[in-house]
Amino acid sequence: MRMYDVITAKKHGMELTDEQIAFVVKGFTAGDIPDYQMSALLMAICLKGLNERETATLTMEMAQSGDMLDLSAIHGKKADKHSTGGVGDKTTMIVAPIVACLGVPVAKMSGRGLGHTGGTIDKLESIPGFRTTIPAEEFIRNVNEIQIAVAGQSANLAPADKKMYALRDVTATVDNISLIASSIMSKKLASGADVIVLDVKTGSGAFMKTVEDSAELARAMVSIGNHCGRKTYAVITDMNQVLGRYVGNWLEVREAMEVLSGRGDEELRMVSVTLASYMLYGSGAAKTLAEAETMVNRVLDDGSAFRKFREFVERQGGDVSVVDDPSRIPPVTYEVPVTAPRSGYVAEINAEEIGTASLLLGGGREKKEDTIDPLVGIRVDKKVGDRVNEGDVIGVLYGNDEKIIDAARERFLGAYRYSDTATKPVVPIYGFVDENGIHLN
Ligand code: URA
Repeated sequence: MRMYDVITAKKHGMELTDEQIAFVVKGFTAGDIPDYQMSALLMAICLKGLNERETATLTMEMAQSGDMLDLSAIHGKKADKHSTGGVGDKTTMIVAPIVACLGVPVAKMSGRGLGHTGGTIDKLESIPGFRTTIPAEEFIRNVNEIQIAVAGQSANLAPADKKMYALRDVTATVDNISLIASSIMSKKLASGADVIVLDVKTGSGAFMKTVEDSAELARAMVSIGNHCGRKTYAVITDMNQVLGRYVGNWLEVREAMEVLSGRGDEELRMVSVTLASYMLYGSGAAKTLAEAETMVNRVLDDGSAFRKFREFVERQGGDVSVVDDPSRIPPVTYEVPVTAPRSGYVAEINAEEIGTASLLLGGGREKKEDTIDPLVGIRVDKKVGDRVNEGDVIGVLYGNDEKIIDAARERFLGAYRYSDTATKPVVPIYGFVDENGIHLN
């Protein structure tokens, strides 16, 4: 088989065979297919597309290009969730303990943050002592004993995707739904869960800016998951503003603990309850979604979800005294209120800009090698639909370096757009996708 012929076939819009796709993924991962040929194929895919079978085969080949996590030693149906990336998205830290305390095992591989979006691993590491690198046996033992473990992704998880993504990034071939869906799902399939719930973000802070595109991406991922024998659901949620009130690693852990204790931001709770409910329903722990929601609300309100989070932190070496009393974490040096430059109604908050403001404060990474300050970040006080008067505090910057506060303030202020007439609050959930297709609210 020759790569030249595969590129030619796709250039003419022909379907690739499973053998051709396997040849490409294996050859590219091994270094036998050069970047220039792979780039040509990726561009042909962007122009001519992949059908569902081709997409599923590509995904499976990428998943099998590295370690396939063997979770067979874990009892019961394992549930996983994945977010396509947002600002202030701390739902994993809420959803995983909820589901675990209801008896469904969560064996989760998570990533670090890059650019304006955060990562669960960085957030958990803001708890002193918390270990995110744990040996496989300990990971499995923890899930069997307390139903929950969260660890950083192994370096050898879907290496074909890693290589392809790096190439797509510099050849303008990222924005193809089949390629994005197969990239995300290859890592999920390699992570071994039986039930996968995808939180597909839509809006200014997300990869997909419109509900229609997000629904299409969600549909493609659900189809891949189900095709590969995993029960897969997607919830399409808003990223036109920050989720919840806080951005920044430790600040988000605190906020997650508030929701786990039955308090906290209502929209954040709503999104978390929905994701957790799909995980319970998909794993068979609840017969209907309504039953699942009742179970989830109960464990949030009676303290069980919070206790499971505490147990999870303790198991992974974290200092539970800061879980019991978050004020034990020292405050940042600068807490700077930001005020509204005019009166009006908040019409838009560009979430990507808020994420970038937090990154500037030191809470994120521009490059993979950058170190982060776990304590800095942002509080968002005014959200879309709120009425403000000139001079009202719309948010607070938490920083440790005076020199960057002004730049972060400019970014934060620039994220807001105001209207003279009343604006509607943003809807947190737009719809869902299951094996029967897209259901928008
Ligand atoms: N995230 C991924 O993991 N892959 C993509 O292609 C896009 C976003």
